[in-house]
Amino acid sequence: MFRLITGKPGRSGFGSASTAENVTQGIDATNFTAVITGGASGIGLETARVLALRNAHVVIAARNMDAANEAKQFILKDNKNARIDVLKLDLASVKSIKAFADSFIALNLPLNILINNAGIMFCPYQLSEDGIEIQFATNHLGHFYLTNLLLDKMKETAKSTGIEGRIVNLSSIAHNYTYKGGIRFEKINNKNRNFQVFQLFPVEECPSGAATTCYVALHPSLKGVSGNILRTATSSSRAGCTKGSLSQETMGIQH
Ligand SMILES: NC(=O)c1ccc[n+]([C@@H]2O[C@H](COP(=O)([O-])OP(=O)(O)OC[C@H]3O[C@@H](n4cnc5c(N)ncnc54)[C@H](OP(=O)(O)O)[C@@H]3O)[C@@H](O)[C@H]2O)c1
Repeated sequence: MFRLITGKPGRSGFGSASTAENVTQGIDATNFTAVITGGASGIGLETARVLALRNAHVVIAARNMDAANEAKQFILKDNKNARIDVLKLDLASVKSIKAFADSFIALNLPLNILINNAGIMFCPYQLSEDGIEIQFATNHLGHFYLTNLLLDKMKETAKSTGIEGRIVNLSSIAHNYTYKGGIRFEKINNKNRNFQVFQLFPVEECPSGAATTCYVALHPSLKGVSGNILRTATSSSRAGCTKGSLSQETMGIQH
């Protein structure tokens, strides 16, 4: 908490005031292709912008193509050489995920980095088109299926280039407040879910941000590191993120 408030750097050398640009300074990602789910807004957009700034080829995967094209133009405005593609992806639809994976593979691009960033929470009860509670379908099953469909491509890329692939899953500190016994699969579609505990956390305090995402995606100090949780803490609001300005994003990486 002390580090969070003061911005004192952690073991990574970055602190709670570090931005996505700070943590990727000097990194050349020319040889990398990254897919970012939910890359048309919020943390995903800032991630897309900064990876493109470091010369990565970025594929924005979004369910709203107007927003995705706007995001592309937003990035190109300040970075005319940015390599950005947009592809449709609705994580709440198995059909759409399969179509996205097919379209991506048809592009014949390498895949070095997959950033599973899109997410929803506190949404009203709804089932996905496949009949699964919408938040679980989007955040978990959708990304699980997507990752599986893209895994061979990532392995193939890693093998042919000798550069390890990276999969970055965004999460939330809210995972500390879930059922102790684990996911209640048999109740996943239950209408009477109790989200009381989450309501204790204002959205503005959500602990994540583009700085950590970009650090995990590109930083050489994480070479060979796998299965770790890296924690951010942010004082920025969602609105702040959406503007692509994460100057308030804060970060304290914990291995
Ligand atoms: N902001 C924080 O402080 C914070 C804290 C903890 C964790 N996180 C995590 O960080 C990630 C990004 O957060 P954020 O604040 O940037 O969220 P956000 O501004 O709400 O953006 C979420 C993105 O996910 C997309 N999305 C939602 N449902 C989708 C679907 N079915 N298919 C494809 N894309 C979909 C949204 O697209 P639409 O515009 O079409 O809805 C949007 O682009 C999330 O996973 C979130 O849980 C954020």
